[in-house]
Amino acid sequence: MSVHKSDIKRVTTHQLQNMKERGEKISMLTAYDYSMASILDAAGIDVLLVGDSASNVMAGHETTLPITLDQMIYHAASVIRGVDRAFVVVDLPFGSYQGNSSEALRSAIRIMKESGAHGIKLEGGQEIKESVTRILSAGVPVMGHLGLTPQSIYKFGTYSVRAKEEAEAQKLIDDAKLLEDLGCFAIVLEKIPSNLAKQVADTLNIPVIGIGAGPHVDGQVLVVHDMLGINKEFKPRFLRRYADLHGIMTEAVTNYIADVKSQDFPNEKEAY
Ligand code: KIV
Repeated sequence: MSVHKSDIKRVTTHQLQNMKERGEKISMLTAYDYSMASILDAAGIDVLLVGDSASNVMAGHETTLPITLDQMIYHAASVIRGVDRAFVVVDLPFGSYQGNSSEALRSAIRIMKESGAHGIKLEGGQEIKESVTRILSAGVPVMGHLGLTPQSIYKFGTYSVRAKEEAEAQKLIDDAKLLEDLGCFAIVLEKIPSNLAKQVADTLNIPVIGIGAGPHVDGQVLVVHDMLGINKEFKPRFLRRYADLHGIMTEAVTNYIADVKSQDFPNEKEAY
């Protein structure tokens, strides 16, 4: 029997909250295009993040800073067209929300209107309080992001583990509580010590999703190109590779080239 789109129950913020309450871990991956989003959605992923990591993995930039709001909307609209079930969150890119809450609201509204996404994510705590409040007041679900926040890479100077020192750990705990109090529906914690992530997840009522934050959080997120092994060079300790697509794709393309050169492809059955 075929499944009608209307039969598929879409994941909501309410369901994510229920998952935390009953101890069911939330699965989340990045996606940037229609084809990949269709595969991840059909496999049953709970949340898809149209991350500004598109700047790295799709566009080849060294950091997430160059990607624009228009480019994020293009990726988000492509993902949305491939999704029936997952909750789709889109990163507000660098420069589209910091320092000006009116601009932050405009950026969030553009993402929601022009892509059809279900929520947005932004990086930071106290510093972006006003922007978070304005966006939430428009009814847009907001996911926070603390710990290693790649949009601030030039402030940190490195991609090493964050919040190892007491003062930074305390600020992270305070920021997480603030984001929950403001009304965020979830928070991503990136590359922080496992025990600190546990403390935050245990303290907050909303779901806490980790990347390099250990097992004691409410869900996990990875960049899909990293976990599928498309990206060979990126090997942080927290990354588990579930496939070697780099190897599989290289072999397939090498075979194709050989078949074209030897005139094995196309054969008679592959021609009209
Ligand atoms: O942009 C991204 O991919 C992210 C994840 C690393 C959480 O923000």
